Amino acid sequence: MNQKFVTRAMERLPVPSSVVHRITAVVTNPDTSAADVAAVLKLDPALSGKVLRLANSAFIGIPRTVSSLPNAVVLLGIKRIHSLVLTAELLAPVKDIAALPFSIDRFRRHAVTVAFIAESIARHLQRYDAPDEHELFSGALLHDIGKLLAAIIDPEGVAEIYKKCRRRSIPYYRAEGEELSHTLLGEMLAERWKFPPELTACIRGHHTAACFPELHRLVSVIHIADVMAHLLGFALFPDEKIPALDDAALAEVQLPVERLRVIAEDILGKRDQISSLLEILD
Ligand SMILES: [Fe+2]
Ligand SMILES: [Fe+2]
Repeated sequence: MNQKFVTRAMERLPVPSSVVHRITAVVTNPDTSAADVAAVLKLDPALSGKVLRLANSAFIGIPRTVSSLPNAVVLLGIKRIHSLVLTAELLAPVKDIAALPFSIDRFRRHAVTVAFIAESIARHLQRYDAPDEHELFSGALLHDIGKLLAAIIDPEGVAEIYKKCRRRSIPYYRAEGEELSHTLLGEMLAERWKFPPELTACIRGHHTAACFPELHRLVSVIHIADVMAHLLGFALFPDEKIPALDDAALAEVQLPVERLRVIAEDILGKRDQISSLLEILD
């Protein structure tokens, strides 16, 4: 690993706002209630408005009217709200960067699609030891956050990696040098922002799930959901080579390919729900 690059990256990593600090502290406390999360959200009226808007949107699936913030937190789930707040905060400065090496809309759509697929896989597992749906949603939404950081820190480097992918017809993660690996950058950010360990594992391990034996099922679902999003055409780059599906991850999750096909069809029918979430992150 190139020490100079790591030092430079560390210096340029974004710093979490005080609301993010507070939400993370509240969410990582096992005794947290929806009222505690709502109390922190209230400190940021724009954020509270977005949470209420999402709770009343097609994202939830069933139309309903939610006017209280604690009820919105219960409906959306504490972990999902946490990951949405983190994602929105990390996406905000990117809007001002003129020369990003990829489309930010594609980045958002990929993350959101992986989140929907991962949650859907959890529902299909229907096992007592299935990973938590909301934990999967969070891990999936943030899994590629390192690519966003790489684009901020070294946009030319990311553009070069993409060229290499196309030239050699290999997936993006295989074209990265170790010093610009998006999983490593994502992990650095996760540690700096004090993400829960499960979330950090999804970010660091979604291309190498076997490296996380204690969280193998969780990280394997993120890996499978990521590959499925590529197969459905929701990759970061338009003609990106699809990453190979890891057999060990498939064996860990134990979902027949036929079920995965049903999940894929189901996701393609969820355009309204996906759009509601994309609007909130815009
Ligand atoms: Fe990735
Ligand atoms: Fe991805």
